[in-house]
Amino acid sequence: MDKKLFTHLLSKPSTVAAFLRCLSEIETAGATWIVAAPAEFWTTDLHQHALDELRHAKRLGDLVRKFRVDGPAKVQADLEDRWCRATASYLKQLLSSAYRRVPKDATPAEHMLYLYAGLALAVERRLMKIYPTLAKQAHQPEVRELATQLIAEEKTHLSLVTRTIKTNGFEKHAEVIVEIEERLAQKWFEILTRSPETEAKNEIKFSTSFSGTRLPVLSF
Ligand SMILES: [Fe+2]
Ligand SMILES: [Fe+2]
Repeated sequence: MDKKLFTHLLSKPSTVAAFLRCLSEIETAGATWIVAAPAEFWTTDLHQHALDELRHAKRLGDLVRKFRVDGPAKVQADLEDRWCRATASYLKQLLSSAYRRVPKDATPAEHMLYLYAGLALAVERRLMKIYPTLAKQAHQPEVRELATQLIAEEKTHLSLVTRTIKTNGFEKHAEVIVEIEERLAQKWFEILTRSPETEAKNEIKFSTSFSGTRLPVLSF
């Protein structure tokens, strides 16, 4: 895991809170992407997966509010705004990359599986690099405890997604999405480790490539 990023984000409660908010948004996006599966493909496993991600988002969000105590003051609000925009941009680019790589002749069932398998694998792998680091290195016991609990469920999700990929022969497709995610995550980390001054210089460029903080939604 990126050492520079973790040294930076674990250094004080305000950055921990901002990063937990980013993770909460990733969990919410993950749940939204699963929920986008058409009803005819809905299974008990998918239902449980979506429910787990929503619960993760909520528990992370509860900790964000705890560390902020009385709500975000201006400096904290600006930090969270910058990081949430970077996170939404990372998610948006991941989603559009996965969309572009669904074969044109895919049936509706394959379309859903290509997206679910690729996106879920990439995001679960990313979180399984982040949560173990938080479980070991976070200064706050609440963060270490929550990360430890989330790891157990993310492992189950990773097994489920890996099984789906193997059963459907989507290994090569999933590998491509994982490689794309690696590159996007590096860009995301770069923004999270920038100082506000450096970020301000990049603001114009950043604004033209992404506007707004709304999470990317998956639909068919
Ligand atoms: Fe999760
Ligand atoms: Fe998960």
